[in-house]
Amino acid sequence: IRQLVKQRRPRGFPPGPTPLPMIGNILSLATEPHVYMKRQSDIHGQIFSLDLGGISTVILNGYDAIKECLYHQNKLSLFPYLNRHLSALFVLCLGLLNCKYGRGWIEHHKLAVNCFRFFGSGQRMFGRISEECLFFLHAIDQHQGKPFNPKHLVTNAVSNITNLIIFGQRFTYDDSDFQHMIEIFSENVELAASGWAFLYNAFPWMEYVPFGKHQKLFRNANKVYDFLLQIIKRFSQDRVPQSPQHYIDAYLDEMEQSATDKATSFSQDNLIFSVGELIIAGTETTTNCLRWAMLYMALYPRIQEKVQMEIDCILNGRPPALEDKQRMPYVEAVLHEVLRFCNVVPLGIFRATSQDAVVRGYTIPRGTMVITNLYSVHFDEKYWSDPSIFCPERFLDCNGKFVRHEAFLPFSIGKRHCLGEQLARLEMFLFFTTLLQRFHLQFPEGFIPSLSPKLGMTLQPRPYSICAIRRQQ
Ligand code: HEM
Repeated sequence: IRQLVKQRRPRGFPPGPTPLPMIGNILSLATEPHVYMKRQSDIHGQIFSLDLGGISTVILNGYDAIKECLYHQNKLSLFPYLNRHLSALFVLCLGLLNCKYGRGWIEHHKLAVNCFRFFGSGQRMFGRISEECLFFLHAIDQHQGKPFNPKHLVTNAVSNITNLIIFGQRFTYDDSDFQHMIEIFSENVELAASGWAFLYNAFPWMEYVPFGKHQKLFRNANKVYDFLLQIIKRFSQDRVPQSPQHYIDAYLDEMEQSATDKATSFSQDNLIFSVGELIIAGTETTTNCLRWAMLYMALYPRIQEKVQMEIDCILNGRPPALEDKQRMPYVEAVLHEVLRFCNVVPLGIFRATSQDAVVRGYTIPRGTMVITNLYSVHFDEKYWSDPSIFCPERFLDCNGKFVRHEAFLPFSIGKRHCLGEQLARLEMFLFFTTLLQRFHLQFPEGFIPSLSPKLGMTLQPRPYSICAIRRQQ
């Protein structure tokens, strides 16, 4: 019993709320952990700690602390925390996103960045996203202004952009196998932040407890792995070596080139993991962002009207071009406010210190789990006035010009910041602009959607119905 109730915070560790025996502070994370953490930081300071079932965890809050620790990497050198639930979420703990900092990450990061640059940027990618927008608009048109839940269509359209880079091909919106894979994969993104996942992470023997959400995580992860294995085989059949058409080709070239190098990280398994990670990292985030953006446009018709006035004025009925992004400050301001306000990745990716560190007088030992509360940056009263109000104008100066904000980190910062930021920004601009150019969004008569997010590693809106009514132009 003494062992169960013993104080588990290491000496010199940041303070935090009193933990319960065994489970520590896990129960406090049941509802909106990012909000709970921000509140605790008001009591214990920007850097405080939680006990997650015996796992001492440091929480970084507010722009100043996060910048100090992540941007100036000498403060905290971080690598992903290879915990059990995250490894189940992303099938296993290798690949790219969950890869420890070292040769494996460097090799996979370099390859992914090159592929994103080569297959996923510039005019060529702009054209391909514009093409996908046409499929997207056509599918929405099929609803003829009647209420529908946009989740399915937005997910398909957005995932197709990553699919073009990874497989060189899009999937049709009625490809049920691919959709099923995305569905159970994103279910894992949700489950990974559940109390069951935290408990399993702290108490590995729970693997043998036959019920509970952690078992669902494993079942889903196995199904995703099998699906990806099959699909990668299919897309590598017609491959011409050294003439890559997409990420899989490029990966197989790397695998062949390093075949005699025993220390290489390129392998069949890592190919599967990295493909899965890129698909889910690219789809879940951007999809949720666009779903929030649609919801807020229907909720605030006056903001929607201003967006449409800018679109009509700048585009005059033609499709958007790459250069238009700079010419549309209001659209940019709205999309930035959605990213700030909705916090699609509220706690970043869980990390761990790769060496002992001293920050603001606290001692943080190597291997300590670190959570960056990005939500607390976007609601940091030091940098934002009235942060709980949705107000795109905060990104505009008095002449209506777009202004950047320092405390804006939806893609995080530091060495491991989001690799898909540029692509995500381009996708959001094109899908959002073309959607509002053609349709007026409104909720069905008498329907008021919930604004409280569905919790998970990402924050998404609860399912809602919307009417997309063709605009007269
Ligand atoms: C990592 C946000 C879109 C690929 C991350 C991280 C955040 C983030 C917060 C964690 C960084 C950290 O913990 O330090 C977002 C948001 C997006 C978005 C808000 C859309 C609105 C994308 C897209 C892709 C992508 C489109 C690519 C297809 C990745 C990858 C990582 C990552 C590979 C891991 C990077 C590494 O560990 O080196 N993203 N992301 N993301 N994101 Fe994104």
